[in-house]
Amino acid sequence: AANATPPSPCPAAALETCKSSFGVQVMTRHLITSAIPYINGIKHLGNLVGSQLPADLYARYLRGRGHEVLFLCATDEHGTPAELAAAKAGKPVAEYCAEMHEVQARIADGFGLSFDHFGRSSSTQNKVLTQHFAAALYDQGLIEEVEQRQIYSETDGRFLPDRYVEGTCPNCGFEDARGDQCDNCTKQLDPEDLINPRSTVSGATDLEMRATKHLFLRQSQMKDKLDTWINSKADWPVLTTSIAKKWLHDGDGLQDRGITRDLNWGVPVKRGDTDWPGMEGKVFYVWFDAPIEYIACAQEWVDAGKGTDWERWWRTDKGADDVRYTQFMGKDNVPFHTLSFPATIMGSSEPWKLVDYIKSFNYLNYDGGQFSTSRGRGVFMDQALEILPADYWRWWLLSHAPETSDAEFTWENFQSSVNKDLADVLGNFISRITKFCRSKFSEDVPSAGEYGPEEHALIADLTERVARYQTAMEAMEVRKSAAELRAIWAAGNEYLQAQAPWTTFKTDPDKAAAQVRLALNLIPLYAVLSAPFIPTAAASMLESMKVENAAWPDDVPDALAQLPPGHGFEVPEVLFAKITDEQRDEWAEKFAGVRS
Ligand code: MF3
Ligand code: ZN
Repeated sequence: AANATPPSPCPAAALETCKSSFGVQVMTRHLITSAIPYINGIKHLGNLVGSQLPADLYARYLRGRGHEVLFLCATDEHGTPAELAAAKAGKPVAEYCAEMHEVQARIADGFGLSFDHFGRSSSTQNKVLTQHFAAALYDQGLIEEVEQRQIYSETDGRFLPDRYVEGTCPNCGFEDARGDQCDNCTKQLDPEDLINPRSTVSGATDLEMRATKHLFLRQSQMKDKLDTWINSKADWPVLTTSIAKKWLHDGDGLQDRGITRDLNWGVPVKRGDTDWPGMEGKVFYVWFDAPIEYIACAQEWVDAGKGTDWERWWRTDKGADDVRYTQFMGKDNVPFHTLSFPATIMGSSEPWKLVDYIKSFNYLNYDGGQFSTSRGRGVFMDQALEILPADYWRWWLLSHAPETSDAEFTWENFQSSVNKDLADVLGNFISRITKFCRSKFSEDVPSAGEYGPEEHALIADLTERVARYQTAMEAMEVRKSAAELRAIWAAGNEYLQAQAPWTTFKTDPDKAAAQVRLALNLIPLYAVLSAPFIPTAAASMLESMKVENAAWPDDVPDALAQLPPGHGFEVPEVLFAKITDEQRDEWAEKFAGVRS
């Protein structure tokens, strides 16, 4: 429909009612980013449910509703953790990152994460853009050069970051204390506190304190602007705004932050493409360049030939005003996304798109403790896929997303959710009705009989439930959405249980045919509604019902007439196998230890 004024982005909760004056739903363009995972190793299920997976849920849902979506993620490749992991793997860091990027991309694909592009923060695009932002911030007077004294290694020919100096702890005598902290007594240290300090790069002991300069971003100058901006976000989750406000107002408030480091691996410190005197051999701090990758990733998407115009997603002077931008992340990432990155964007005084909504998550714990990458505790993404298909994990993780508090993964809970929700409720419904139809009628939708009051009641009930599901999905209430979806599945089961076409068939085969016709029609409806959660199962549901191009059920009664009498189908393979007690115990045991 022609609409004279361009639609403004819909508020999150009200998106459902966001219709133009002609009663046509306005399709908003949605930019969605997930926090970009560190390159050093395969992520665990706690990482997955804290950003990538819910972002994928939302992206799939919005695409399903007909919105234009750009969903981006990348690997976060700079910083000491990347350098150290590469050293541990005995590989040059660039090679290590390239390999790990491929590994993470493959596993993300295995989980059905539907990124439009999975980029790399070490890309040329990000290097150029990061240096550009540094120049823009400098021009705005927001970058300060600060003189500091720092450990210099003559042998290594470089300044050493705190973690690259080790020595004896002055507090407990532990001989391998790091320059930032003693792992034995946990005391926070400065590298010059260490007794007999040595370089972890070479073991060299010819270390000395030397003067060097670092760049600081004058975030404190932007405090009021950020404060006003955060306060204007009344619809944001409390978890997001409370963390932002704490960092803005607690203690000393918003500190200027160092944005350079003495590392070889990273974005070289330059102002645009101009060298920066005094900054030779330094790179930008990983948390400075990582969020800029959200923008660079859209450029990579275009340069990879997958898109044609990144500016209409990111430049408000080039159409991005019409974009609704949503970010997903774990709570530890919130300060960087509510304060630091906005400070970079606002400080540049250039027309970049700011985030509209930040959905943040608490932590998922693993069986009485924490998931831990460094200690290899918990289930990691590759291991999960070796045991069971992605949909099982997606369903459990999303239906137990740590939204209002931390959540915990236990094998018992996982087994019972999968067996009840996926196998008993959804899977059983589909197999029961398709098999019954095949045995008593044929593998075609039966045509006899009329719908009675029970059928109309089910259609009305589902119409209401679908509306509630949509409202929860629009609001990104992940657990609630899962609960609504589960209730939609259960409604079909209850109908079948109560109407019992196998009994009806004995006395009134025509009525049974009508009951079967409606029940079969629930399958494509379920498939489309469930696709954001369990995309693979949804696709095979549609395939067995021989439905191509299934649309979102904007009108539920219409959608339930999708399979006309005579429409052929096939009884699907078992969609979800139950997890046996033996499997549960075996896995619990297998993952009780830590992986090396
Ligand atoms: N790599 C960080 C983490 O896993 C997230 C970076 S998000 C970005 O905690 F904003 F920096 F991109
Ligand atoms: Zn100590």
